[in-house]
Amino acid sequence: IRVAVIFGGRSAEHDVSCASAASIVRHLRRERYEVTPVRIGAGGGWTIGRDRPVLDGPDTATLLDLTRDPAGPRPSALESMWGALSRLSEEVDVAFPALHGGHGEDGTIQSTLDVFGIPYVGSGVFACGIGMDKELTKKLLAHAGLRVADSVTLQGTDDVVSPRDRARLGLPVFVKPAREGSSVGVSKVDDWASLAGAVAAARRTGLSKVLVESAIHGREVDVGVLEYPDGRVVAGPPLEIRYPDAHSFFDFDAKYRSDRTVFDVPADLPAAVTAAVQERAVEAFRVLGCAGLLRVDFFLPTVHGSEEPVVVVNEVNTMPGFTAMSQYPRMWNAAGLAYPALLDVLIDTALA
Ligand code: DAL
Ligand code: MG
Repeated sequence: IRVAVIFGGRSAEHDVSCASAASIVRHLRRERYEVTPVRIGAGGGWTIGRDRPVLDGPDTATLLDLTRDPAGPRPSALESMWGALSRLSEEVDVAFPALHGGHGEDGTIQSTLDVFGIPYVGSGVFACGIGMDKELTKKLLAHAGLRVADSVTLQGTDDVVSPRDRARLGLPVFVKPAREGSSVGVSKVDDWASLAGAVAAARRTGLSKVLVESAIHGREVDVGVLEYPDGRVVAGPPLEIRYPDAHSFFDFDAKYRSDRTVFDVPADLPAAVTAAVQERAVEAFRVLGCAGLLRVDFFLPTVHGSEEPVVVVNEVNTMPGFTAMSQYPRMWNAAGLAYPALLDVLIDTALA
C-alpha cells in the first residue's frame, strides 16, 4: 500500500505535527507500506520527500532532511500544493494527514484531498471543521445531551464579559482561542482584571474568536475512539493525565517539555465512570460525524451525592498527537493494539 504521510503545515502546532509524522513513518510496517513523506512548510509550500528506501526509523530531523526543498527556483505555495497533489493522486493509494491545528486538522487539507480524489485517514471536511472549533463542538455536543463546560464567546475585538456572565462562570476561567490546539494561546485567569490581557494573548494566535470558559475542578481523562474497516466504532481504555503542580493546567510545557507529566492508562476509575466516558466518547464521534479516529478529552468534576457519574467534555481532537509517547497511541497500546497495528486499522478504514 502506497501511503503519503503529510505533516508540518501553517499552524502553531507545526513542530508537534513533525514529531507525530516521524513516529508514524517509523511505525508503518515496511512489509506492507511504501511511504512518501510530504512536508507542508510553515509558509504553505508542499515538498514531496525523496529516498523511500532510507526512510526506516527516521527521527524528526531526518524526516525534515528528507523533505528539504529542492534546489532551484521555488514555486509559489499554491503551485507547489497543486503539483504535489497532482503527483500524489497518481502515486499513492492513501494519505495520512498527520497535521494538527489550523490549515490541516480543520478540514482545509482534507478538502484538497477530496478534490484530488485521494482517500485519507481520519475525519472529513465537516467533522474536522467543527472539531477544530471549540465553540461549535460544544454547541453540537450539548445539543445531543453531553455535558460541556459553561463558557462565553467573544468575537471580533470584544473583550468584555458582563457582570452577570462573570457571576455565572465564577473564577478561575480559562481563556482559549476557539480554533487552536496544544493549549497554544490558552491562559488561566484568576481575577477579572487580567481578562483583557488573556484575551489579547489568545488573539495573538491570529484568531479573533475567543472562549472564556468556567474551570472544572477534578480529574482529567482522555478517551480514544477508533473506527474499524467494518464500521465498528470502539472506545479505548481511558487515560488519566497527571502533571506537577508547577503547571496550573495541562499547558504546552506540561504536554511536550515536562518529563514529570504522567499518563495512567488504563486510568484507575470506577467501572461506571469508565463506561460513562467511553460511551460519551463514541457518542461525540457520532454527533460530530467523525471517521477513523477521535480523541475526546474529559473532566471528571468532584461531585458528591450524584448517583450517575458526572463527566464533562473539555474538547475533541480529530487528529490527536501521534508520537509514540502521545496519549492516543498509548491508549491503544494498553488495549493490546500496538502502534503498527493501530496504523494498519486506520489505513484499512480509510481504504474501506
Ligand atoms: N493538539 C494536540 C496535537 C493533541 O491534541 O494531542
Ligand atoms: Mg486540542
